[in-house]
Amino acid sequence: MIVLGIETSCDDTGIALLEEKEGRFEILSNIISSQAKLHTNYGGVYPSLAKREHQKNLPIAFKKALKEAGIQQFDLIGVTVGPGLEPCLWQGINFAVDLAKKSKKPIVPVNHIEAHILTSFIDKDFQFLVSNPEKLFPAVCLVVSGGHTELILMEAIGSYKLLGKTRDDAAGECFDKTARILGLGYPGGPAIAELANAGKSKLVKTEGIKLPRPMIHQKNYDFSFAGLKTAVLYDFRSRSEKERKGKKYIRAMCSEIQQAIIDVLVKKTIKAAGEFGAMSIILAGGVASNQELRRQIREKIKSQMPGVVFLVPPKELCNDNGTMIALTAFFHRKTATKDLQSIKANAKLKL
Ligand code: KG4
Ligand code: ZN
Repeated sequence: MIVLGIETSCDDTGIALLEEKEGRFEILSNIISSQAKLHTNYGGVYPSLAKREHQKNLPIAFKKALKEAGIQQFDLIGVTVGPGLEPCLWQGINFAVDLAKKSKKPIVPVNHIEAHILTSFIDKDFQFLVSNPEKLFPAVCLVVSGGHTELILMEAIGSYKLLGKTRDDAAGECFDKTARILGLGYPGGPAIAELANAGKSKLVKTEGIKLPRPMIHQKNYDFSFAGLKTAVLYDFRSRSEKERKGKKYIRAMCSEIQQAIIDVLVKKTIKAAGEFGAMSIILAGGVASNQELRRQIREKIKSQMPGVVFLVPPKELCNDNGTMIALTAFFHRKTATKDLQSIKANAKLKL
């Protein structure tokens, strides 16, 4: 079965063709047209600009995807219907509906958050997963992106319970906003990660930086990152012009921002996994491409809960893309519909 996946929930236009053959997935093409550069000046995503870009990019990305895959036909269409920016979601939906009419193929409406989670199964034997659910479930999923920071208890594919979420900024948003304060551009996550890896914890001390770990000791699974951003701003403002522009300060600050975010995420995830007897921990979303976060969660599992399986998508599929939508559409292929009018954007769609 070949599935076309369409993603336009935020600032990336993603179109992919994914083939499933005997329980294995092969990515035939995965086209991503990123608008990151366009949004740099705003320090975040500017919705009406994003909408216009999706409209422009969708047909180009679609043509490219077919060409790269070397095919003209597909069996199923998956499209993100939420959560996300409503005008952007509609661009993808309208495009999918048009294609469904022309190709006479059904559509599976896809939840963007579930798609991030299920991408951690892409390189696994799907038939094994389906026939041995007790080996993976319950799973505790940490979804961390520019718009979301959520801890989710997953009982099966399609069965989710929200354990906690951010009360203000998302983890990715915190990377983006603090990077902006430091003058590092958008998206902030990769920029901070790169400089942080060059910095050392010793440097953080000698530069006299100490950021809070918000809500780390609270007995719940909620997060809060707005205070962390404010702490960065206050520290930055307290420094002289020369210090602010110094490589040492920037590197130390990036290391501390990254570590503060990781400390909170890891602590709460491991705690949830213990409390709910998780068989696996799934890390997903754009921030999951952070090397240090991946390493530190892996280490903690190894030392504190050996036997628990750690699942994380390949780095190149952590940020928004069409493959994750195609994959999720495949998992939910039984819900495919030809009632095209029923497919609607829902900016606040829940799992
Ligand atoms: O999942 P995603 O592509 O889009 C949303 O659904 O939000 O996530 C984008 C977010 C951005 O905030 C970006 O700064 C962050 O993921 N990000 C990272 C890294 N790569 C992307 N954050 C930390 N470290 C990274 N290496
Ligand atoms: Zn996303």
